[in-house]
Amino acid sequence: MSDLVRLEAHGDVGLIVIDHPPVNALSAAVRAGLVACIDKLGADPALRCGVLACDGRTFVAGADIREFNNPVPPAGSTQAVTTNAVCAAIDASQKPIVAALFGTTLGGGLEVALSCHGRVIEAQGKVGLPEVKIGLLPGAGGTQRLPRLVGPLAALDMITTGRHVPASEALSLGIVGEIATDLRPAAMSAARALADAGTWPRLRDEPTPAVDRAAFDAAVTAVGKRARGAIAPVRAAEAVSWSLDAPFDDALARESEAFQALRAGPQSRALRHIFAADRAAAKAPTDEPPLPIATAGVIGGGTMGSGIAISLADSGLSVTLVEVGDDAVRAAEARVRAVYDRQLASGRLTEAGHAARLARVTFSTEMAALAQADLVIEAIIENIDAKQDVFRRLSAITRADAILASNTSYLDIDLLADVVVHPERVLGLHFFSPAHVMKLLEIVRPARLAPAVLATALALAKRIGKQPVVSGICDGFIGNRIFSTWRKQCDFALEDGALPHEIDRALESWGMAMGPYAVADLAGLDIGWAQRKRLAPTRNLAARYVPIADWIAEQGRFGQKTGAGYYLHRDGKREIDPAITALVERASAERGITRQPVPAERIQSRVLAAMANEGARILEEGVAARPSDIDVVLVHGYGFPAWRGGPMQAADEAGLDTVLATVKEMHAQSGPGWEPSKLLETLVAEKRSFASLNG
Ligand code: 3HC
Repeated sequence: MSDLVRLEAHGDVGLIVIDHPPVNALSAAVRAGLVACIDKLGADPALRCGVLACDGRTFVAGADIREFNNPVPPAGSTQAVTTNAVCAAIDASQKPIVAALFGTTLGGGLEVALSCHGRVIEAQGKVGLPEVKIGLLPGAGGTQRLPRLVGPLAALDMITTGRHVPASEALSLGIVGEIATDLRPAAMSAARALADAGTWPRLRDEPTPAVDRAAFDAAVTAVGKRARGAIAPVRAAEAVSWSLDAPFDDALARESEAFQALRAGPQSRALRHIFAADRAAAKAPTDEPPLPIATAGVIGGGTMGSGIAISLADSGLSVTLVEVGDDAVRAAEARVRAVYDRQLASGRLTEAGHAARLARVTFSTEMAALAQADLVIEAIIENIDAKQDVFRRLSAITRADAILASNTSYLDIDLLADVVVHPERVLGLHFFSPAHVMKLLEIVRPARLAPAVLATALALAKRIGKQPVVSGICDGFIGNRIFSTWRKQCDFALEDGALPHEIDRALESWGMAMGPYAVADLAGLDIGWAQRKRLAPTRNLAARYVPIADWIAEQGRFGQKTGAGYYLHRDGKREIDPAITALVERASAERGITRQPVPAERIQSRVLAAMANEGARILEEGVAARPSDIDVVLVHGYGFPAWRGGPMQAADEAGLDTVLATVKEMHAQSGPGWEPSKLLETLVAEKRSFASLNG
């Protein structure tokens, strides 16, 4: 028996309760406790049926992820009681058991619930099999029981996306039989009804509903295409296909085998690393409680400013967006409205939700409208004088305790703190475009920042559904600094012999969401151009500099918005442009380089080495608190494949000695700026990994 699971008698119903905060994860002790309580329920003649319930904030949210790093336990030990064994105990029960679901019933939690004989859910509850998100597949019968319950196509969708299904959809799919307001009594009634009937369904005995095989196979193929290198969704789809023809026990054994293989592999290790890294990055490094934020202001209504306003309004904040002049205000209003109109048209917003969100955003040409705001975020052009002017005026207008933030992607926040009366309330909130969609939020922490303001920013990030990472001050902060470093290696590869589409293809096939030149065309080449011009006076003239991007921008080719950049853009498609090929070849010729093919593996290994080396410098300087924070930034903001775990984790997997050797090679070839970081050298000398610095 375990303290974490108890059996209570409620008349003729045995209530099995799991109490394992924070999310009732199925740790070894919980699994053993469940089997013991199911046995006790069976043995007690006064009990006719059972209800499986949880204390705390949620029904079981899955297996205990922390146990996945442990070795497989010896047979016969407490740890060896698997989730499958819990499900088998429920299958073998001579008394019906109904699961009472609330909060997020996920992974092994849903699998245990599926082996129960009935399920009741609270209206706010959600269910899902999100194992693919940590590089696994459901390993306790989920790939076999769910298709039997909802049909193979719906199961394939749920299992390969890992999405959370709301209670109403769970009801219509048949995952639950009832949405209840009074959960435990409703589950008890349902259990008694089954006991009265004397018969109850066991999913393992049910046939899988028939499916159009061609449609199913097409859906499996689509999963493979969407996976972009991730293996878990592909394996999960295979496992669902076994439910079409394999006997239940055979399929269950194959599922277990596939689960263990994934669990031991690098992709799941990487995704579990990101799961822990996300949560570590979001923890406030202070005990100070966050300050209340109810009203916010945004200055600047361009793409970023309006996206930020939407993001804030979506989470229930009242937002005032300030622009200069009537025309700019009208344009900002149109941008905000267009996003909400699209969400209404696609069914993501109801009429009421649409109206409520629009009502939360007001527009003004007067900065005085921000006098009572708890928080103001500036999102105007990237010009330090203009930003200082805004901060000076804000300092005079806003409340003394208002938080003043800048959305700058590069500039020194300390220079903004310098011009206000309360510098301890100034910080950077660097959103990524489109701000209402992208998950990452870099919280830039100047030296004078008050701990409570930092805590407030982290709490705000959670509230608006963003993944925060705290960064110190440096040009480009964590993300753009690393991005501009590895971009240089790509430009070197252009000069050495590759073409933009070859580099994009090499990195996309490595798992990146988009290659750097496709990204540049999407983001606009004028932005990087302006940035390079700003940094030109401080550029190390001895460092290798590739002029290709400047030449393209000088031609007015700013990417998709002008129809041409690194590619030609016609009818929404990108095409290779012979003019760019000629321009790249000219760059090589001017440097006296004889162009040679650049293998994809060299592009990939150099990009990774450049990221890891710059990441190590960022750590040395204290700009990032831990290597895993850098991974979080690259995965959530820059399309780095999550299944590689971010550049620091990927460098660990590749071996830091190999990475260091590549850095030395790049240094030998490209000179100043490519010196190996001291930290990287030390770690290699001490045979340690970046992970050893995560704490
Ligand atoms: N195991 C262990 N710890 C878990 C956990 C799990 N499955 N799920 C969450 N936690 C921990 C978190 O690490 C965090 O700990 P911390 O406070 O020390 O940082 C704490 O619970 C709270 O989690 P969140 O901060 O994420 O809280 P939220 O309320 O934002 O989200 C959640 C809750 C939706 C449950 C989210 O944590 C989540 O998605 N968890 C993962 C669920 C999952 O992947 N389940 C499948 C596991 S694999 C499996 O079941 C295999 C099976 O098929 C055999």
